Amino acid sequence: MTQTEEQTLSTGDTPHVPIEKIVSLCKRRGFVYPNSEIYGGVSGIYDFGPLGVELRNNIRRFWWWSMVQTNDNVVGIEGSIITHPRVWEASGHVENFVDRLVDCKNCKRRFRVDHLPEENVKQNKCPVCGGELTEPRKFNLMMETYIGVVEGERMKTYLRGEACQNIYLDYDNVLKSSRVQIPFGICQIGKAFRNEVTPGNFLFRQREFEQWDLQFFVHPSEMQQWFDYWKERRFEWYKSIINHKDRLRFRPHGPDELAHYAKQAFDVEYQTVLGWQEWEGIHWRQDWDLSRHSEYSGQDLSYTDPETKERYIPWIVETSGGVDRTFLNLLIDAYEEEPPSGKDKEGRTVLHLNPILAPVKVAVLPLQKNKEELVTTAKELHHKLRRLMVSQYDEVSNIGRRYRRQDEIGTPFCVTIDFTTLEDQTVTVRERDSMSQIRLPINEVPAYLLERVRWDYSV
Ligand code: GAP
Repeated sequence: MTQTEEQTLSTGDTPHVPIEKIVSLCKRRGFVYPNSEIYGGVSGIYDFGPLGVELRNNIRRFWWWSMVQTNDNVVGIEGSIITHPRVWEASGHVENFVDRLVDCKNCKRRFRVDHLPEENVKQNKCPVCGGELTEPRKFNLMMETYIGVVEGERMKTYLRGEACQNIYLDYDNVLKSSRVQIPFGICQIGKAFRNEVTPGNFLFRQREFEQWDLQFFVHPSEMQQWFDYWKERRFEWYKSIINHKDRLRFRPHGPDELAHYAKQAFDVEYQTVLGWQEWEGIHWRQDWDLSRHSEYSGQDLSYTDPETKERYIPWIVETSGGVDRTFLNLLIDAYEEEPPSGKDKEGRTVLHLNPILAPVKVAVLPLQKNKEELVTTAKELHHKLRRLMVSQYDEVSNIGRRYRRQDEIGTPFCVTIDFTTLEDQTVTVRERDSMSQIRLPINEVPAYLLERVRWDYSV
C-alpha cells in the first residue's frame, strides 16, 4: 500500500478519497484482509472476509449469467490450477512471460522497465532519486511447484499463469461432448498465479488473483466481426455495473506492448487516482493457442466444418478480465463520504453499489430491542427474506446508527419494524442512495425487494 497511501481516488464531480479509506473500510467491515497477517503478511496476497466473499460471489455469478447462461453459443468449464508442464512451453510462458527489471544503484529501489517513464529509460536514471540504474534483468513470472513425493522423481510444473490455458486444453473435449459448433465460446472463472515483482496498489496487482475468460472460436474470415462484437459487449457490461460511466474507456495496445500471443489488443480501462488502469483485455489471439498445442501435444486440434467439410485451426477472440480488479474498481466507484445534510445530520459513508451486486440486500431492524413484539415480527420477516436473498437482522444501537452501518457496506434496503407495524402490519422501507422511506404492507416486502435486487440487464 505504500505507493498509494498518499494518493487520492476519483475524478470528476466526486470528492477525492484517499485509497487508504477503501483499504481500511475493507478490513474494518470484513471485505478484505491481508493474508497471513498474524505472521506479518505476504505481499500481493489477500483473503476475503464475510462481506467480501458475498460481493465476490455476486460479481462472479453476474458475469457467469451474462456470459454463459444467456448465450446459447457459449458454455462453461472449470479447469485445474496445476497442469502438465508442457502446457506452459507450448503457451510460450516459459520463454516469454518475463518482466524486465532494473535497480537503482543509489537508493536500491527496483522498477519494472515497462513501468518507468520513457525519459528515465533513455537516460538510465532513477525516477525517485536520479541515481544510475542497473542493466535490465529478466524475471519469469511463473510460479513453480512439484508433483510427486519421491525426491528425484518429482516433476516440476507451474501454477497456471493465466487461467485461459485450460480452455484450449479442454477445447476438443467440449467440442466432442457438447454439440457446439463454430462460432462458439468457452468461459471459465479461476485463479491465476504470477510472481509479480512489483505487487501493489491493494488488489490491483496481486500474486494470486482470479480471472474470467471467454475464448470465442471462429472461422478466420469472421474474426474481425466477432472481435468487434465482443469488444462492444464487454464494454457495455462494465458500463452497466458502475456509476461513473465517464471513467471507462478503451485503449488500443501499441505494437511494443502486445503480449506474445496477441496480434491486436484493446484494454477496457477504468480511471482512478492511479490514472487509467487496465480492467479487462480483449485480445485477437488468432490461431496461436490451438496451433501451438497441436504442435506440442501431437494432437490435431483443427476443426472440420460439418457442412462445407473445410478443415482449419479456429481463430480465437479472448476477453480476459480480473475478478479482483472488478471488486476493487466497484468499491472505488461506489465509495462516497456524504457531508451532514437535512436528511442525515451526522453525514455518512455510503457504498453506492449496484443492488444486484451488493453483499447484503436488506437489513431488518426492530425499532427497539426491548419490545418483544417488535423483535418477534422483525425476526419472522428476516427468516422469510433470508431464504430469498442475503438479509441481516440488526437490533444493536439506535436506528440512525444502524442505517449508517448498512450504508457503509452498500445495503440497498433497510426495513424497520415499528409500533405502527403492530397496529396495521405495515413497515418502513428505506432506500440507501436517496434515503427516502415508504410504507408497505409487510407481506409485500419480499416481492418488492426481489424486483429490485435481481438481474435485469440485457447485456
Ligand atoms: N489470458 C490473457 C491474460 O491473462 P492479462 O492482461 O495478463 O491477460 C487479464 O490478464 C486480466 O487479469 C487483467 O485485465 C486484469 O484484470 C487481471 N490481472 C492480470 N494480472 C493481475 C494481477 N497481478 N493482479 C490482479 N489482477 C490481474
